[in-house]
Amino acid sequence: MSDILRLATEADVIALSALIARSARELQAEFYPPEVLDVAVGTAFGLDPMLLADETYYLIERDGQPVACGGWSFRAKTYGAAGHLADATARMQPGRDAARIRAFFVAPDYARQGLGSRLLAACEKAAHEAGFTEAEMVATLAGEKLYSRHGWAVDRAYTEILPGGTELPVIRMTKRLSSRRGE
Ligand SMILES: CC(C)(COP(=O)(O)OP(=O)(O)OC[C@H]1O[C@@H](n2cnc3c(N)ncnc32)[C@H](O)[C@@H]1OP(=O)(O)O)[C@@H](O)C(=O)NCCC(=O)NCCS
Repeated sequence: MSDILRLATEADVIALSALIARSARELQAEFYPPEVLDVAVGTAFGLDPMLLADETYYLIERDGQPVACGGWSFRAKTYGAAGHLADATARMQPGRDAARIRAFFVAPDYARQGLGSRLLAACEKAAHEAGFTEAEMVATLAGEKLYSRHGWAVDRAYTEILPGGTELPVIRMTKRLSSRRGE
């Protein structure tokens, strides 16, 4: 078993889009009903090309196949696939604003093997190295336990409204970044 953590590129788009859809549909099934997932996959949950272009989105390959992905961002957009909240591209300022943690998805067969934790550590480290001392995210109900485990605090639970009025309960979480964690 050989795991490689690397930046995701355009060449990974097809594989990662499939991985994200599978991860969302299977690992979130106990938290969101199918009709909500039908709308959320591809809008709230999906690959954001902005993160690829910014070189802030990572994947973990095992034996040559992507099995997990996740990233961070220095832009305002908090969550979502291509086109969702598409105007939120403003650059956040280290020291004033929080970096965003974005779009963590692990392939169902590879859950609970520490891959999400490894990606999270890499993203926190990269955001900290870019000068950010605060980070925030819009977490799914499925993701909360992973983030709580790594020192993230619940700011508030609320409901995002997706296209067509579909309601997606989520949790805004925050963390103060330090240089202690990382790869
Ligand atoms: C949330 C997610 C990314 C976690 O990834 P993961 O690789 O399974 O997480 P890890 O193996 O690093 O978990 C580390 C710790 O977090 C906690 N944790 C993670 N997932 C958990 C779960 N489903 N239930 C309870 N605790 C969980 C546990 O403490 C775990 O340690 P343990 O396995 O030794 O008990 C993954 O379940 C996933 O892709 N979910 C679907 C997509 C999603 O909701 N992503 C979050 C978007 S904000």
